[in-house]
Amino acid sequence: MSILNKNSQNLPIERSFKKTLHKNLKFNATEQYKLLRTNISFTLPEDVKCPVIGVTSSVRGEGKSTTAINLAYVYAESGKKVLLIDGDLRLPSVAKKMNIDGSTGLTNFLMDSNKIMIEQYKTAVNDKWYVVPCGPIPPNPSELLASRKMEKLLKMLSEYFDCIIIDLPPVNIVSDAVAISKYLTGMILVVRQNYTEKDEFENCKRQLKLSNVNVLGLVMNGVNNGSSYYRNYKYKRYYKYYASHEYQQKSSEVK
Ligand SMILES: Nc1ncnc2c1ncn2[C@@H]1O[C@H](COP(=O)(O)OP(=O)(O)O)[C@@H](O)[C@H]1O
Ligand SMILES: [Mg+2]
Repeated sequence: MSILNKNSQNLPIERSFKKTLHKNLKFNATEQYKLLRTNISFTLPEDVKCPVIGVTSSVRGEGKSTTAINLAYVYAESGKKVLLIDGDLRLPSVAKKMNIDGSTGLTNFLMDSNKIMIEQYKTAVNDKWYVVPCGPIPPNPSELLASRKMEKLLKMLSEYFDCIIIDLPPVNIVSDAVAISKYLTGMILVVRQNYTEKDEFENCKRQLKLSNVNVLGLVMNGVNNGSSYYRNYKYKRYYKYYASHEYQQKSSEVK
């Protein structure tokens, strides 16, 4: 297994970014993502050189991919060399959302890990930001995500990056997010206001707990904040990191 870097003879391929989410990020959303990044850094173990963070939720449509992309963006903006992987091997959306070539990616890495030309996946937005799409859809996503190959791949990529963020499918629909969780430093759970059913959320939490998944925190997506700070801004939809009762102990350590 090897990563070919800039000095290899394979030159990076220009990837087009006609439309990227970060450009549409309004100020308050950007600030919330920065806050999320800061709070995550407090909840991560100190001795981890490259945290590998999964992003999941109970069901589809809660904003996992949106959160993963924008979180990766603010990490790169802070000067960290960050890799975003589309780990939703059933309904991948990162390449489409970012308008980049999604023909190769994670599943190719897993099939042939000998020559990973990581520089091909560098974004044109920020030279610290790399995005690896899903690649061809495999027949066995859960097995692939839980495989030793996946573990080895993440270990190898961890040598090259400061942070890895993996966009994952929802917990209540398929077992993929739980399957890969043993290789993650922690998981971010996305909840969408006026969308996520309480029972779905409880079920998701139960499954993560049963599997001993280290939940770093929750992202409340689509919250209308009534505070004066946000009322001053035109766009009220924003992303907020908060701790549920269950995770309050972790959040209080942050304060
Ligand atoms: N806070 C938000 N406000 C408005 N639309 C949002 C918000 N978060 C996500 N969306 C939209 O909702 C849809 C689902 O989001 P996505 O990130 O793809 O969810 P998931 O990955 O959880 O299935 C997308 O069309 C996305 O653009
Ligand atoms: Mg998604």
